[in-house]
Amino acid sequence: MIRFEQVSKRLGGRIVLDEINYTIEPGETFVIVGASGAGKSVSLKHMVRLLSPDSGRVWVGEDCVSEARGDNLDRIRERFGFLFQSAALMQWLNVGDNVGLPLRMKKDMSDDAIDELVREKLAMVNLAEAFEKHPGELSGGMRKRVGLARAIITDPEIILYDEPTSGLDPVTSRTIDQLIDRLRVELGVTSIVVTHDLHSALAIGTRIAMLNEGKMVEVATPEEFVKSKNEFVQGFLAAQYITTRGDWEKAESA
Ligand SMILES: Nc1ncnc2c1ncn2[C@@H]1O[C@H](COP(=O)(O)OP(=O)(O)OP(=O)(O)O)[C@@H](O)[C@H]1O
Ligand SMILES: [Mg+2]
Repeated sequence: MIRFEQVSKRLGGRIVLDEINYTIEPGETFVIVGASGAGKSVSLKHMVRLLSPDSGRVWVGEDCVSEARGDNLDRIRERFGFLFQSAALMQWLNVGDNVGLPLRMKKDMSDDAIDELVREKLAMVNLAEAFEKHPGELSGGMRKRVGLARAIITDPEIILYDEPTSGLDPVTSRTIDQLIDRLRVELGVTSIVVTHDLHSALAIGTRIAMLNEGKMVEVATPEEFVKSKNEFVQGFLAAQYITTRGDWEKAESA
C-alpha cells in the first residue's frame, strides 16, 4: 500500500536516501529505526510529499504521491494523520483547537460536533483535562500527546508517527504503544512509526526496518530482527543492552 521504488534524495549536499526500496502492507505497524540523521524523518515526509525524491517514486496504493499535485495530492494527504517529531502545535491556540484544527479546515462539521470528537481523542491520550490549556503550559510529553490526538482526529487510514514516545515516561510510553496497537487491531489502521525506543519497536511492530546512512540495511519481523546478523542492527540492540539471543545483559564498564 505504501511503496518506495528506487527512491534517492540528496539534501544539504549529501545523499540522505540512497536507492531505497520497500513495501508497507495495509494494516501493518511498520517501525523504522536508525541513528540520528539516518533519514527516518525524511522518509516519512516523502509519504505525504512534504519532500519529493530526486529519482524513484513513492506510491500510496494506486497513487504516485511523489508526482501528485493539486486536488489529487490533497485527496492522498487526507488519508494520512501525521505526528511530527516536534509536535508542531500552534502556540496561540488552546489544546482543543489544536486537536480540532484538521476538522475545522474541512469545514463540514459543527463546532459542537468537533469539540465532542476532540474530547474523545484527548481522553484516548489521557489528556481529557487539558482542553482549555495552551501549548506553552504543557510539559514536552503532554505536547507530544496533543500532537498524537491531532494526528488521529480525522480517523485516518494511515498514521505517520515521528518518535511518538520520545520524552515520555515509560508508563505513558506503553499507553501510547497500546493506543497505536489498538488502532491497528480494531480499525485496521496502517502505521509507520519512527522510534529510538526498541521496546516500542518490538512490542508494536509487525516489521522493523533499519536505515543506515540512507540505505535500508534490514527489514524483518521483531522475532527475526533481534536475531539479525547485520552489524548495524547488532549495534542498535547492544546499545539498548539486548543481546542477539533476545535477552538482557548488564552494562559492561570499560
Ligand atoms: N530540509 C532539509 N535541508 C537540508 N538537509 C536536510 C533537510 N531535512 C533533513 N536534512 C538532512 O537529512 C539527513 C537526515 O535527516 P532526518 O531528519 O531524516 O534524520 P532522522 O533519521 O530523522 O534523525 P533523528 O533521529 O535525529 O530525528 C540529516 O543529515 C539532515 O541534516
Ligand atoms: Mg527525525
